[in-house]
Amino acid sequence: MKKNEQKMMLHDIFVQKLQSLLDVEQTLVKALPKMAKAASNPELKKGFNEHLVETKGQVERLKEVFASIGEKPKALKGDAIRGIVKDGEWIIKNVKGKTALDANLIAAASYVEHYEMAGYTAALAWAKEMKHKDTERLLKETLAEEEKADTKMAALGKSIVFPEANTL
Ligand SMILES: [Fe+2]
Repeated sequence: MKKNEQKMMLHDIFVQKLQSLLDVEQTLVKALPKMAKAASNPELKKGFNEHLVETKGQVERLKEVFASIGEKPKALKGDAIRGIVKDGEWIIKNVKGKTALDANLIAAASYVEHYEMAGYTAALAWAKEMKHKDTERLLKETLAEEEKADTKMAALGKSIVFPEANTL
C-alpha cells in the first residue's frame, strides 16, 4: 500500500471508530440513569450518577475530537453496546436481592467500561500514528476517566459484596 493510501485508510477507520464511540457514549447516557435507579447502595447510586455526568462530558469531548480532525460528529449505530446494555436490563429485571443486584450491576458496568477502554485504546493508537496531537490528548483524557471509573466500581464491588475486606 502506498503511503498516501495508507494515510487515507487510517483517517477513514479512525473516523469510523469515533462515530462508533459516539454511539456508545450516547447509548450510555440513556442507560446509566436506569442503572442508578436500580442500585440500592447509596455509594453505588452516586457512582452511576457521577459517571453519567462524566459520560455527557465524554460526548462533548468526542465532538471536539471530530472538530480537531475537521470532521462533523456523527454516530454509527452498533450492536455490541446495545447487547451489553440489554444484559444489564436483564439483570435489573431478574436478579433478586439488593446486594446480589448491586454486585451484578457493578459487574455489568465493568463490561461497559472494558468495552469502552478497548475502543478508546484503538482510537488513541491510530491518533498517535497520524500524529494528531490535540486529538490524542482528548482521547487520553477520556480513556483515563474510563479506567478510573472501572477501578472505582471494582473497589465499590468489594466493599458491597465483601464488607469485611473493605480497605477503602
Ligand atoms: Fe464513557
